Amino acid sequence: MMPLLTLMEWWSHRTGREDWDRLLYKILAVAFIVTTSLGALTGVGIWFSTSVVNPAAIGSLLRVFYWAWFSEWIVFVCEVVLIVIYFLTWKKMTGPRKTAHIRIGITLSVMSWLTMAIITAVLGFMMNPGAWPQQQDLLAGFNNPAYVPQLLFRTAAAMAMAGSLALALGAFFTSPRTALRKESVRTFAGWTLFWIVPMTIWSLVYYQAIPAEMAVNLPVAFGTQAWANQYDLLIKLTLAVGLIGVGLNLWALIKPARTWAFVWIVPFLCICLLVSQFERTRQFIRKPYVLAYYMYSNGARVQEAPYLAKTGLLANSAWAANRTITADNRVQAGRDVFLLACSRCHTLNGSNSITRNLSRLYPGQTWKPEAIDSYVRSIHGARPYMPPFPGTAAERAALAAYLAKLQTTSDQIPSNASISRN
Ligand code: HEC
Repeated sequence: MMPLLTLMEWWSHRTGREDWDRLLYKILAVAFIVTTSLGALTGVGIWFSTSVVNPAAIGSLLRVFYWAWFSEWIVFVCEVVLIVIYFLTWKKMTGPRKTAHIRIGITLSVMSWLTMAIITAVLGFMMNPGAWPQQQDLLAGFNNPAYVPQLLFRTAAAMAMAGSLALALGAFFTSPRTALRKESVRTFAGWTLFWIVPMTIWSLVYYQAIPAEMAVNLPVAFGTQAWANQYDLLIKLTLAVGLIGVGLNLWALIKPARTWAFVWIVPFLCICLLVSQFERTRQFIRKPYVLAYYMYSNGARVQEAPYLAKTGLLANSAWAANRTITADNRVQAGRDVFLLACSRCHTLNGSNSITRNLSRLYPGQTWKPEAIDSYVRSIHGARPYMPPFPGTAAERAALAAYLAKLQTTSDQIPSNASISRN
């Protein structure tokens, strides 16, 4: 949004268009409020959620990308300070000081792109670390195969998204049938269409950069297990959403005054849907890993899997209540195994709940511990998006005993605090 607003600010300054300047200020006000409220909240929130869901993974990322993150914090602070200055001085820095104000906009644009350029390296690394497992240095981590295509794709997608939001806001802030309405609808639709072209091209290049064993996950990633067979239909629906967005932008170019203002919200909703689906899918397909080829989603490193299989999950856990399995504590120990091996991805009764998954796996049948045990033994073969079971045979049997019991008894996962008290 910042490159778009700065460019238009420069243009309206050069052409002396005060009405445009006022419109841009209103659009910036919305962008400013969104980034400093929602953006700030989710940006901090992600640190809480990642460190609760997978502390081992975020710890590893912090070690690999230490200096990158260090720089990112500086760039990010500059970005936040600059957006505050850019917004608060818009009405004050006029006349001869306008050029200086535009320069603030340019610096802000560069900073906001740089934060993305740094963070996208981390995201690319999580999907395919490239040469890092051998070289293990920051540069190798940065230079991962998914990085550049994803960065270029995100750059174009962010530009198109900004254009769509500006289109909607511009229509909202101008009166119907005025020259300003027509111009703003045309300009922002034109900008969006311009960026949709590289966005499409780079999305295809990015698609090619996805490792083959992760592309296998696409059908489940795209619409969950229940919709995996309808993958083609879902792809068509996604394309349709894209075409509606493109079609409306074309319509905006040709007939900018011929419809109600709220229609111009639709392209923005379309691109939000597409980007959300892209993010969901990207997060899913690197399963069974949280950090590709290095760490499984359950927090176990690929290298330590043989060790865990020999010595046991429970014995190596920092907090499990039951460290050895006896006839008396089998079900309780199985519950600890569930918390360690499955709870990063499964809840008991909520999102992706294990009970619903088991009911689907054994419809109308009694859940037998032996059947669950043998399913879990080959869990990774049956469903490649789940990691191989990371413990001993006795732990697997305990897990199966616990899971089978869930058919008739209900359980609740305690908070971490009550686990470590034991
Ligand atoms: C990396 C994340 C992850 C981990 C760890 C994980 N699962 Fe899953 N599991 C999933 C996903 C995703 C699905 C599919 C859900 C959907 O699409 O509806 C699934 C599905 C299942 C299903 C139903 C499979 C089917 O064939 O329909 C069972 C049973 C299951 N998981 C058991 C387990 C058990 C037991 C563990 C622990 C040993 C475990 N999972 C660990 C992600 C995971």
